[in-house]
Amino acid sequence: MKQGPESSKIQSLFNNLAGSYDKGNQWITLGLGQSWKTKLINWSDAQPGDQILDCATGTGDLIIGYYEKLKAQGRFIGTDFSEKMLEHARVKNHPDIEFEWADATDLKFEDHSFDIVSMSYGLRNVENRFKAIFEMSRVLKPGGRLMILETGPSPYFFMRPFLDFYNSKIMPLLGGYVSQQGDSYKYLSSSTQNFPSGKKLCNMIQENGEFKSIEYKTIFGGASFMYKAIKK
Ligand SMILES: C[S@@+](CC[C@H](N)C(=O)[O-])C[C@H]1O[C@@H](n2cnc3c(N)ncnc32)[C@H](O)[C@@H]1O
Repeated sequence: MKQGPESSKIQSLFNNLAGSYDKGNQWITLGLGQSWKTKLINWSDAQPGDQILDCATGTGDLIIGYYEKLKAQGRFIGTDFSEKMLEHARVKNHPDIEFEWADATDLKFEDHSFDIVSMSYGLRNVENRFKAIFEMSRVLKPGGRLMILETGPSPYFFMRPFLDFYNSKIMPLLGGYVSQQGDSYKYLSSSTQNFPSGKKLCNMIQENGEFKSIEYKTIFGGASFMYKAIKK
């Protein structure tokens, strides 16, 4: 069942954007993007020795953040279906991190394999989001955590006009300037406005996985959201 954009279009969008992705990301988050990933990592209670899978890892910054936080003690895997994004992750030169091609809706890992499964700014780009949530839940150990970082409409009415203006007007300009691919950033911006956030995404996660609790927190007035779901 299709809930998101067509996979083949997303794959080629990110293959084309890969070379400028990190710089574009830094610009559109005003340099704050990595600190939001650090917040997600800290909230996940990751422990040395954990088995960690980052799906839709892109250029790998979230799994690299886990690797550095746990001082390389554990197993660290980043997967994505854009080969070009993975190439840019691999050249960051962390040979202990396994970067593998995988579709988040069809993971080749056994049930109950990971302590933490994460996905940052990936879910809204996945065509079959229900299947991705099901798969990420399936490969988590009981008590393991699904950690998601995403955008979506802010719940704070006083922030909405500012964030909507930023997303629809400023972000495509900044991203377009850095990447010379303004249309890609127009897509990224419109996908933010249409994506369920807060309680709505918690419900989607609950309905498609096996979780005993789900919480979320807003970041920067609802510019982003982080979600923590604990597997039954
Ligand atoms: C906005 S980027 C996020 C990359 C990285 N996680 C980050 O936070 O910077 C979205 C990523 O999702 C990946 N993606 C989208 N759908 C996917 C799927 N079904 N399976 C694997 N990767 C997918 C894209 O290839 C892209 O690298």
